[in-house]
Amino acid sequence: MPAKAGVRSSATEEPSSEPKPEVALEDLPGIGTTTADKLREAGYTDLMELAVASPGDVAEAAEIGVAIAQKIIGEARRKADVGGFESGTTLLERRKKLGRITTNSKALDELLGGGVETQAISEFSGEFGTGKTQLGHQIAVDVQLPAAQGGLGGEVVYIDTESTFRPERIVDMAKGVGIDPETALGHIHVARAFNSNHQMLLVQKAQELAREKPIRLLVVDSLTAHFRSEYVGRAELAPRQQQLNKHLHELLRFADTYNASIVVTNQVSARPDILFGDPTRPIGGNIVAHAATYRVYLRKSKPPRRIARLIDSPNLPEGEAVFSLTTEGVRDS
Ligand code: GTP
Ligand code: MG
Repeated sequence: MPAKAGVRSSATEEPSSEPKPEVALEDLPGIGTTTADKLREAGYTDLMELAVASPGDVAEAAEIGVAIAQKIIGEARRKADVGGFESGTTLLERRKKLGRITTNSKALDELLGGGVETQAISEFSGEFGTGKTQLGHQIAVDVQLPAAQGGLGGEVVYIDTESTFRPERIVDMAKGVGIDPETALGHIHVARAFNSNHQMLLVQKAQELAREKPIRLLVVDSLTAHFRSEYVGRAELAPRQQQLNKHLHELLRFADTYNASIVVTNQVSARPDILFGDPTRPIGGNIVAHAATYRVYLRKSKPPRRIARLIDSPNLPEGEAVFSLTTEGVRDS
């Protein structure tokens, strides 16, 4: 994996303790290494992607006949557990495996129903300096804690689109919760995304990593910055939303496949139609609203305090929580 484009460890790499087995493309009858490599290069990194692909696209990507492509897709569908219908019992079983990661603030955890949930996207939005990046860092440390302390004993993929990842902050926060800072850094795999396409590609890279390491958290800070700066103007709105939607669904699939938590940050934009109250709203509108299970809107209060408001949740009451941003990280006020 090229160091620049890939996901790299923020400190020294450590051997994984909990590998995640998954059926490789090569395990399908009729796919050799060459074909598998070609498919991966074209973005078909796992069975599910193949299962939902069109024979024409697969044939072109792998330089094989359409009939063979059809057969491969058929096999992928059989093996990939494409699902379709799931019984309520299965869903309940899956929900039982839900994990939660503490934010290190009891108040904020309570607002979220016990912390940031796995198999879901949680969005933290707000104006500059409201603590979105600090929360991303804090949760990246906390997920490494054992379950008894509010973590999942897991590792992290951190997609940094604004070059605001700071290993020094991880050191501060790791010390703050009693984790060895070097170990904490070694468990956070950071990649800088240069543009929105690269950002999306990095989710695929993250899947490769998650097969080797127990990745339980994927942070995207910021989800929308690249999309916002690349797609400018009214005419670009539809293609932007389409790409963003695709990105969010790839993130959701990652969350489901690896029982991982997805934490994304989002800037807010001015909302000229609002005369009273807060005249801002998260970027991405309905698209993010549909994909994110938890949406938390942050605003500043008397320093170092911040107020978090839950704005969109299927099963939790709307409410607010106050927390503080300190040198050691996120704390209750
Ligand atoms: P944008 O990315 O600009 O939209 O902002 P953001 O919401 O990501 O803000 P961020 O998380 O970067 O929060 C910055 C704030 O965190 C600062 O204004 C400080 O209040 C606090 N902060 C950051 N680093 C430290 C630190 O080392 N010590 C303390 N005490 N506070 C810090
Ligand atoms: Mg930030």
